[in-house]
Amino acid sequence: MANIPSPGATSSSATVSAPAAKAVHVPVLLREVIQHLQLSPGLRVVDGTLGAGGHSREIFKKIGDTGELLGFDRDPMMLAHATKAVSGSNVVLHHGSYVELGDLLERRAIETGSSRQVDRILLDLGYSSDQLADRTRGFSFQEDGPLDLRFSTGEGLSAADCLAQADEAAIIHALQTYGEEPNALRLGPVLAQAARAGKLRTTSDLVHTVESSIPAAQLRSAEKHPATRVFQALRIQVNAELEHVERMLGEIAPAALAPSGLLAVITFHSLEDRLAKLAFKQTDIWEELTPKPIAPTPAEVRFNPRSRSAKLRVARRR
Ligand SMILES: C[S@@+](CC[C@H](N)C(=O)[O-])C[C@H]1O[C@@H](n2cnc3c(N)ncnc32)[C@H](O)[C@@H]1O
Repeated sequence: MANIPSPGATSSSATVSAPAAKAVHVPVLLREVIQHLQLSPGLRVVDGTLGAGGHSREIFKKIGDTGELLGFDRDPMMLAHATKAVSGSNVVLHHGSYVELGDLLERRAIETGSSRQVDRILLDLGYSSDQLADRTRGFSFQEDGPLDLRFSTGEGLSAADCLAQADEAAIIHALQTYGEEPNALRLGPVLAQAARAGKLRTTSDLVHTVESSIPAAQLRSAEKHPATRVFQALRIQVNAELEHVERMLGEIAPAALAPSGLLAVITFHSLEDRLAKLAFKQTDIWEELTPKPIAPTPAEVRFNPRSRSAKLRVARRR
């Protein structure tokens, strides 16, 4: 939405207190990621999206004591979960976006004399089941809670504040661009008016407003809940998610990966996947190793339904 500041991209070190509950997130395409990253002892690996640390735990086993794991998460809660999954003198977990990778490598090069490059990077985009399950974060339209949707509640504006400050055109643009929402023209003015009147403060407020704006016949025949795309659009907007993905794939990863280094990206919707597909078409930078993205097996989808829309793409830095 226009004039909404995007969350800061500078480094910050979080106070990471251990989370009370055990993490529930199940890593997606774990076997495939480990296989395609071609891991071996001594490699320096970046997990740009630590989450609950499920991928990192397996990566760490493969690179061993002689390797190094650098991890990022924008959400202090997830960083705390990851800290329980992986730790050691050769593990550096950082509160912040993966777009800070270049800065972190630079700092470590000055402080420890280490290289400014890494051998592998993993990005498992989007949000985790733990964030979805925490009703205080507003990620789920099935739970009542504050309409926040930020990965880091200390950064930028919540979705409720974002909506309250935006005009109709900005809301329509966000719904169309980040949600591919067919009812954007109908929903934009309704959401703008409700938000300005202070009636869009919670997830339930938003769900009810969306439901009451969609014709009943459309509601009955919809495959997905009509709020699904609206929540996706707001989450992408308030976290400037696609900007981070674009910067990472276009600038940061190419600069940070050593020649022949590998980048693996797991996406969960077409907007992210399009960015990965486009980036890997830059054949002077990347050799794509997965011309067709890898999808989860039917068995994985049965065991972990959240994996159903996942796609894994892997490329080698030239
Ligand atoms: C799908 S989860 C990762 C799950 C993880 N691979 C695991 O096995 O538990 C995505 C995580 O990335 C984090 N995230 C999203 N965008 C980010 C960014 N730009 N930089 C760092 N972390 C990000 C989210 O907070 C979330 O914890």
